[in-house]
Amino acid sequence: MRVGAIERPGSLEETAIKNYTPATVTEAVLQQMQSAAEQRLKAIVESAVRHLHAFAREVNLTPAEWLKAIEFLTRVGQTCTATRQEFILLSDVVGLSTLVNTLHDATAVEKGTRTSLLGPFFREDAPQLPLGGQISSRDKSEEILLWGTVRTAAGRGIANAQLMVWQTSSVGAYDLQEGDGAAIDYRATFHTDAEGKYHFRTVRPLGYSIPMDGPVGDLMRAQRREGCRPAHIHFLISAPGFRELVTALYFPDRYLESDVVFGASPELVVKEAADDPQAPVKGLSSVHFDFALARAGSADLASGRVGADPTLLGGDLGVPSTGG
Ligand code: BEZ
Ligand code: FE
Repeated sequence: MRVGAIERPGSLEETAIKNYTPATVTEAVLQQMQSAAEQRLKAIVESAVRHLHAFAREVNLTPAEWLKAIEFLTRVGQTCTATRQEFILLSDVVGLSTLVNTLHDATAVEKGTRTSLLGPFFREDAPQLPLGGQISSRDKSEEILLWGTVRTAAGRGIANAQLMVWQTSSVGAYDLQEGDGAAIDYRATFHTDAEGKYHFRTVRPLGYSIPMDGPVGDLMRAQRREGCRPAHIHFLISAPGFRELVTALYFPDRYLESDVVFGASPELVVKEAADDPQAPVKGLSSVHFDFALARAGSADLASGRVGADPTLLGGDLGVPSTGG
């Protein structure tokens, strides 16, 4: 036979061709995907196909509805830019980011502080500040203090742990939302002292709406959801030998129970103290929170971070290949 030519069966009866039905097409697809080289990739795609087919059968999806969904997903992709990740936002509002986070939390070798979403406004390049520094420069509203310890699960302080911190201003906008070319603000990087202690000054963040001017916003309106997040301050905390902690502290407000991205949880809700005698700076309203880092385990070598600095997507996110 000529190289590359397709061998023809003698008759139609000899072929395995079938009239697919809603009941048989799934199995045929799974059969054809059997030879995938990477076992983890194979397992993930097989399961995705099984669940996608089950979903289409369950809702009796029509061609027009499927095209509408494809149009929606196309717009999600087209809305992504170097600084905006509409797919992560979609994952957030359908609770998938929180689900993946909680699955990851369950693989920790010991109990650390609960995680929360990284969100779309994280940037790797937050300036380094000394302990006690004020992270807000444009917003001059009332200063508050955040302080505490980064410690092990057993309660020992971790010296020189890195804390990356970012938040909205007191009117509910991240620096990146304050207009083209707005300089970095309301974010900083700190390192704990020899006893694992940290403290910094900031302004009180405000709850805010997720970006509503794209397809995810249209979905929110169609679902009659407010699309708002409670006021919070994000933290990304790391130290050699420990699982990286992506979390946030939440300030009580009316969006706490209806957080559109399901990031808030009771252990992360803080209480401000008007004049805490223990606080390292006196005279400021303060929030005390100790973070616990779990020791790194084998899951940490292969998991990656839920969410990313959007400017790095498509580049090296430190996410390993699915393995063979
Ligand atoms: C945020 O925390 O900033 C955020 C998280 C998910 C979606 C939108 C915003
Ligand atoms: Fe946020």
